[in-house]
Amino acid sequence: MKFLQYSVLPFLLVVVILSLSGPTLAHSHGDFLHCLSLHLANSSTISKVIYMRNNPLYSSVLNASIQNTRFSTPATPKPLAIITPLKTSHIQSTIYCSKKHGLQLRIRSGGHDFEGLSYVSEVPFVILDLLNFRTVKVDTKNKVAWVQSGATLGELYYGIAAKTKTLAFPAGICPTVGIGGHFSGGGYGILVRKYGLAADHIIDAQLIDANGRILDRKSMGEDLFWAIRGGGGNTFGIVLAWKIKLVPVPVVVTVFTVNKNLEQNVTKILHRWQYIAHKLPDDLYVDVGITKVSSSQAGKKTVQAAFTALFLGGVDELIPLVQERFPELGLAKENCSEMSWAESVLYLGRAPRTSLDMLLDKNVIPRTIFKAKSDYVKEPIPESGIEGFLSMFLEKEADFASMLMVPFGGKMEEIPENELPYPHRAGNLFQASYIVGWRKEENAESGKYISWIRRFYSYMATYVSKSPREAYFNYRDLDIGSNNISGYTSYQQASIWGFKYFKNNFKRLVQVKTMVDPMNFFRNEQSIPPLSSP
Ligand code: FDA
Repeated sequence: MKFLQYSVLPFLLVVVILSLSGPTLAHSHGDFLHCLSLHLANSSTISKVIYMRNNPLYSSVLNASIQNTRFSTPATPKPLAIITPLKTSHIQSTIYCSKKHGLQLRIRSGGHDFEGLSYVSEVPFVILDLLNFRTVKVDTKNKVAWVQSGATLGELYYGIAAKTKTLAFPAGICPTVGIGGHFSGGGYGILVRKYGLAADHIIDAQLIDANGRILDRKSMGEDLFWAIRGGGGNTFGIVLAWKIKLVPVPVVVTVFTVNKNLEQNVTKILHRWQYIAHKLPDDLYVDVGITKVSSSQAGKKTVQAAFTALFLGGVDELIPLVQERFPELGLAKENCSEMSWAESVLYLGRAPRTSLDMLLDKNVIPRTIFKAKSDYVKEPIPESGIEGFLSMFLEKEADFASMLMVPFGGKMEEIPENELPYPHRAGNLFQASYIVGWRKEENAESGKYISWIRRFYSYMATYVSKSPREAYFNYRDLDIGSNNISGYTSYQQASIWGFKYFKNNFKRLVQVKTMVDPMNFFRNEQSIPPLSSP
């Protein structure tokens, strides 16, 4: 008992100091911490679970997984506390106390949200960071795995590769991305043409709802289970872990990169790629990354398209296939390398391949400052249209800009639009995404880079999906619409961004939200709202 009193003492002091400082915010902050400390009731646990602003570790815990450093400046709103639960009861207590004291909760797994919504809010908030929920259990016999939300994709791939070379999982390309946010928004990667999305392979999940109940697939019911597989994080509850079906891959796969620039007929080759890439055999994935690079002529810049591929087979089978179907690329054997599937993830993620341990390195992908947007393309863009967007890369603001074209077709063509919340399936030739970055010292001029990407996006409007202009939820873009920062957001208002991400599935997502979280406890600028005001 004495132990308990000591453990609570620092929090009571904070409560007193904050209360003396006057405002209601200080009361709710102090009350929240008091509530939580009473629930945790163990001093050693408290110091490992709650990081307040006066804790010397606060900043390092906050910054540990911020991928877009646009949201780690002194001006970025900071949480009142970061909670790093060690067990599910800590999460239940956090829900209870933040609800009771009116604080917004931001859930963070890998911290890769493009707009920083897992760790930034304009209203008083706390972060629930799942960094201690990162177990990966792989069962090769049954070809399934349980993975906790705080693990990264790299940790999942590493866990699979440690047991077998013939199983894989069709999720994202970048190893540092967190499971929690990625699975919640769909998740595509280099196996998208062969197997579809990560969400297509989730067979069970463990979720804590707004009432603190722990649910699995059976107890949550099929509507909620449908919604959490792509309907977006921070809306329906906190997903602790996911049961996934693994997919077969050959022991040896082949990768290649072929670069073509403006002086090497890139416009024509890109134009051809649009007719070919989505129709290739499902075992072959060829994406395109476009950037500005130095030209072979001294002092000049050019625009380069990197055609990067994964083939689920050996090089001797790949070369004749590409020579027949895409001769314009001029693929040669020396462009290709054979490796295991896990190594190919590092290759396509442009990460060093010194060892598979790189999959576990949270800094393997450099952290940058960026703004991004996405589109879906259903008709080939004419050469004149391609020339137009390539020329925009020669502008000064595009020094750190890139465009990624991800071919669809294959499995994506077979899955109905309403199977899961992610609707961008049949009829899409490719998904396009645009990113612009800048240096930290240029933060004061960020406006000119953001204007560049908005102009680029306007230019692309002629060539991409319309009514709605579709966008990928996991490439979050607050330019396409947002909920009210505080107070109720109507169905009509949320429809502006909701139909772009989910098309008609948005309606079902709103119904599920109304059923499971009518008080709208889990919310952010692009969370699904309930139908009526709580
Ligand atoms: P983060 O922790 O920031 O969470 C994102 C959202 O999900 C937030 O709203 C958060 O509150 C919510 N959330 C997180 N955990 C939750 C949980 N356990 N329960 C409920 N809600 C939760 N995408 C892709 O499909 N393929 C790819 O190859 C890539 N590659 C890629 C590279 C890089 C460098 C970045 C920055 C991003 C990508 N992405 C991607 C996009 C990525 O899928 C997207 O940003 C995910 O939401 C990231 O998930 P995290 O858990 O890392 O983010």
